[in-house]
Amino acid sequence: MLELITTPLLPSDYLDLVSPLRAGADLRGRIEAVHPETGDAATVVIRPGKGWRGHTAGQYVRIGVDVDGVRLWRAYSLTSPTNRRDGRVTITVKAIQDGKVSNYLVRRAKPGTLVQLDQATGDFVLPQAKPPKVLFLTAGSGITPVMGMLRDTAFDDVVMVHSAPRPQDVIFRDELHDLVAQKKLRLTEVHTDTDGTLDVARLAETVPDWAERETWACGPAGLLDAAEEHWSEHGVQERLHTERFRPSVVVAGAGGEVTFSATGKTVDADGATPLLDVGEEAGVLMPSGCRMGICFGCVTPLKAGAVRDLRTGEITEAEPGVLIQTCVSAAAGPCDIER
Ligand SMILES: Cc1cc2nc3c(=O)[nH]c(=O)nc-3n(C[C@H](O)[C@H](O)[C@H](O)COP(=O)(O)OP(=O)(O)OC[C@H]3O[C@@H](n4cnc5c(N)ncnc54)[C@H](O)[C@@H]3O)c2cc1C
Ligand code: FES
Repeated sequence: MLELITTPLLPSDYLDLVSPLRAGADLRGRIEAVHPETGDAATVVIRPGKGWRGHTAGQYVRIGVDVDGVRLWRAYSLTSPTNRRDGRVTITVKAIQDGKVSNYLVRRAKPGTLVQLDQATGDFVLPQAKPPKVLFLTAGSGITPVMGMLRDTAFDDVVMVHSAPRPQDVIFRDELHDLVAQKKLRLTEVHTDTDGTLDVARLAETVPDWAERETWACGPAGLLDAAEEHWSEHGVQERLHTERFRPSVVVAGAGGEVTFSATGKTVDADGATPLLDVGEEAGVLMPSGCRMGICFGCVTPLKAGAVRDLRTGEITEAEPGVLIQTCVSAAAGPCDIER
């Protein structure tokens, strides 16, 4: 109980000042280095505490950092191989405009900083038996989980089609080109500033046997939506595995006044901003996980009023026992969230 009301500096944080990575502590890690990758992306080397159970290539880790006094959690794919000898793991972060955590990690985080960690999770992974022919379809920071796989596994036949605005924006470019030189990878780079956006419907021009390949795709919603459509049209959707970094928001409507009754705060919210962001912005302690509607780590009772699911437009009205996912729900008129 004490922990609940003394955040953000919890009693265990004081204990951790003595031995921060001790076993039995909530899982933490220490940032040991931050290596720039491109103008806006960097790899963060983290030494996890003793409770870390390792990961499978392609999985992500949730990391909690204190940015300007507020603890914020975000998910990042692990880019280090699973057998790294020194026990360190890496994540590779692309700073996005106005992004609180991504800019903090890329531009401000210093070696020695303690971060909170969850165990690795996620099912964007390779099957037990290595597929004979693989395609990686990635764009921007969507290359990260795939790099984890490439560093972990020697594939027999792997093709990557990767999009980024310009050559210098391609994260891990030198390493990818080394793999190409060693004939371990066939790579097509699409530089969208000059080539335009990749047209997934014309993928066969670059990868004629794409439909035979077990495919892992990660990138912006437009790319993944187009890929899902294309693979379905050709009846090979079971060969396509996708990872999204944010939910596809299709609908927004009028917002309303949001009351966080347990905290005693009321704020105005538009109809497009997830209630999770609204609450955090107002200084309300909001539980969260993936922040994109898949983990249910954010579910909260809706005490009064109505909210809209940003993915479907569906309205949920308050009644006893109704729970909402705050990361994909926005106010649909006045509402009261039990936080
Ligand atoms: C499973 C999973 C794995 C991920 N792996 C990686 C990874 O390896 N590397 C990486 O850089 N990111 C990754 N992400 C995205 C990451 O979790 C954050 O969403 C991202 O860093 C932005 O957080 P922020 O605090 O900087 O932005 P916020 O402060 O939360 O948002 C700032 C603004 O940017 C918008 N926004 C939020 N997320 C994105 C996004 N991804 N792209 C574009 N605009 C966005 C918001 O709507 C808001 O307007 C992953 C996400 C998931 C769910
Ligand atoms: S935070 Fe994962 S479902 Fe909302």
